Formats: sequence, structure tokens, C-alpha cells
Amino acid sequence: MSVNPAVAVIVVAAGSGTRLGGDIPKAFREVAGVPILEHALRGVFGMRREAQVIVVAPEAFRGDAELILGHAAGDAAEYASVVTGGATRQASVAAGIAVLADSVRIVLVHDAARALTPSTQFDDVVDSVAAGGRGIVPGLAVADTIKRVDDEERIVETVDRDELRAMQTPQGFPRHALAQGYADAEEEYTDDAALFAATGGSVAVIPGDARAFKITTPWDLNRAEHLLRPEGGERIRVGVGVDVHAYDDNAELWLAGLLWPGEAGLAGHSDGDAVAHAITDALLGAAGLGDIGTMFGTDDPRFAQARGEVFLIATRERLIQAGFGIENVSVQIIGNTPRFTPRRAEAEALLSGLIGAPVSLSATTTDRLGFAGRGEGLTAIATAALRQRH
Ligand code: CTP
Ligand code: MG
Repeated sequence: MSVNPAVAVIVVAAGSGTRLGGDIPKAFREVAGVPILEHALRGVFGMRREAQVIVVAPEAFRGDAELILGHAAGDAAEYASVVTGGATRQASVAAGIAVLADSVRIVLVHDAARALTPSTQFDDVVDSVAAGGRGIVPGLAVADTIKRVDDEERIVETVDRDELRAMQTPQGFPRHALAQGYADAEEEYTDDAALFAATGGSVAVIPGDARAFKITTPWDLNRAEHLLRPEGGERIRVGVGVDVHAYDDNAELWLAGLLWPGEAGLAGHSDGDAVAHAITDALLGAAGLGDIGTMFGTDDPRFAQARGEVFLIATRERLIQAGFGIENVSVQIIGNTPRFTPRRAEAEALLSGLIGAPVSLSATTTDRLGFAGRGEGLTAIATAALRQRH
């Protein structure tokens, strides 16, 4: 960071977010697991030029804002700070203007709520202010037909939409003219451009970007979430499950849901189907629903001789109830016997049918090392991926 930044960005994040609802101020709500303020700051710190960055936050959330800002700023933290906002957006911007560094010549004011604004929009506004010496506002052409209505919702006229632009942020201004405008302002304006124009400044519009939309309502939050999660608002969760059983020559072998005549069986409370048990643990683990012991009770007599498929069917039902869909499961078996490959397709088809999602199986030995290599027991390791709906 150069010692004297010529550009400053005031990020206003002190609103409560009444229209969005929820328990915490809007800028601290998360989209795709990241606070709205942090998304906004990623756009700011992606700017080509170095800038002083001022976050305006609610008093009770200054600490949170400082953590988020420190995280987003990285090396640029020296010229980043948090101040307390006011009762109106205008008062919040004024609180930011009050702490501008002496070297600043161009000030951008940005709504934290426009969380997905690309860095190029900041660069374009700075360049245009620098070139023209006047206020610059990004705006979008209006797609809908706009009507003016009266008190009783009767249409008075159609407004020529070619003359209309929907305003976005960041809005950029020469520093001294903006500070003077704020000092002179005697009423509340809807945005900085309106205040700047009303106090004598000239403002021009440059093309905005659809991604700079303002998160105002729950619908907007959902839209932002969908844009950031290409899988369509679904969260992927993964889990792992391991099961080990000793061979028991006197038991029949049930493995991967199949009976294996003539093979050494596996000792266990239930049928010892290590593959089915590992899949069950992977699925429950991915969903955060505990494990096979807590879910089914290892000493519950109902499960004493239960086939592996009983656990799989019950687990699938629990996942559906909890709002999860199974994406896929992959299992590796580690052991000397049985020779798995000849029945792999049969086992995959059976297990896939039981859980309603693709199950892939593979088998390996350990080059005669360890308990598996000595032929004492068999291990199954399963990985499961789930889709969680919001
Ligand atoms: N803002 C602010 N201080 C205020 C009011 C608003 O810093 N007193 C900020 C908001 O945090 C937001 C931006 O101004 O980033 C745009 O305002 P808006 O979208 O209206 O946010 P809120 O006022 O928080 O939402 P609502 O009007 O639904 O309560
Ligand atoms: Mg508001």
C-alpha cells in the first residue's frame, strides 16, 4: 500500500435490513457461508488501485466488522478501518466521510448490500471520476414498462423507459465537492448522487452490472445464494465411514448385501456386513446424524441378526426426513477374501437400489501386511456425498 491513497471506498453496512428480516443486521447475514459484508469487501479489495477502505457498521457489530475487514484486507489492512454508523444511510455515509485520509481525492460510496458487485465496476467508477471531475453513478437500463399511478393505484401515465436508469453503487465523487455537499445538505436524499446534485454537483451515469443488485428481500438473498452455488442452492456434504470385522469360519459371509457361499464369514453383532455398515456410517456422518451405534443401538435386540440392508433402508429414510438427498457413495474393501471382482456389478446394483443413488465398490489387499494381510479380518471404508436443500 502506498502511504497516501488517492481513492477511498466507504462501505455502508450499518442498516438493520428490515425488509430482509432475521435476527442480525443484513450485512452480517451469510450468503454461501460468507457474510454479505465480506462478499462486498472482496469486490473492493479486488480493485486495480489501492484505496483507503472505511466500513460503516452498527455499533453492536463493530467487532464483527473489524474481523471481517481484517480478513478481507490482508496486506492492505493499514488503510482499512471501521466506524459506527448513524440512524439513516446518509448519516452513515457522513460518518465515513469524517475519517477520510488527507490524501484522498476520489471517494466511492458503496452499499454492502450490493454484495456481488464486481471489482471492475469500482475501477470503472474511479476512472470516470478521475477523467471527468464530476460525480459518476453506475446504472442499468430498465427492462419493465414503468407506469405512474395515483393514490388509488390507477394508472396515470406510462413513463418513457428509455429515459430511465436504475441506480447502483459504488457512486463516485471528487472528495471535496462530496464533503461540501454533505456539510450543506439539509434534508435526507435517497442516494449520494441525489444529494450531490441537489447541492450543486453534476453527476453522469455509466453502465452498471447486473451482479451489483442490492440484497433487499429474502428473494434477493436466495438469488445471490443461487448465483454463488452453481448446483442450484444445494449444499454438498461428505462423510466417511469405516467398519472392521474379524473372519469367523463358522459364520456365513454376508458382504455388500450379498450372501457369499463357501467363504469365511465375518463375526459381529449383526450380520457383520462391513460394507453396509461403513456406508451407513458415511451417510449418517455426512448428514451430521451420528453413527450406526447411536442411530440403531448396537445392543438393541431388534438389530441383533439384522441384515446390512436393514440399516441402509432405515438410513435412507432418515436422510430424506432430514432434507438430504444422496449424491453417491464409494466404498473400498481391504482384505484377502472374498475375491470381489466377479460379483462387483451385482453388489453395486443391489446397494445402489437400496440407497437410491450410485454406489461404486473396489477391493484391494495389503501386500500381506497387517491384520488384513494375515487374513484375520476385513475392512470397508466408505465415502458418501449428500445434497442438502436450504
Ligand atoms: N445503511 C447504513 N446505515 C443506515 C441504513 C442503511 O449504513 N442507517 C446501509 C445498509 O447497511 C446497506 C445500504 O445502506 O448496505 C443500503 O440500504 P438498504 O438496502 O436499505 O439496507 P437496510 O436499511 O439495512 O435495509 P432495510 O431498508 O430493509 O431496513
Ligand atoms: Mg434502508
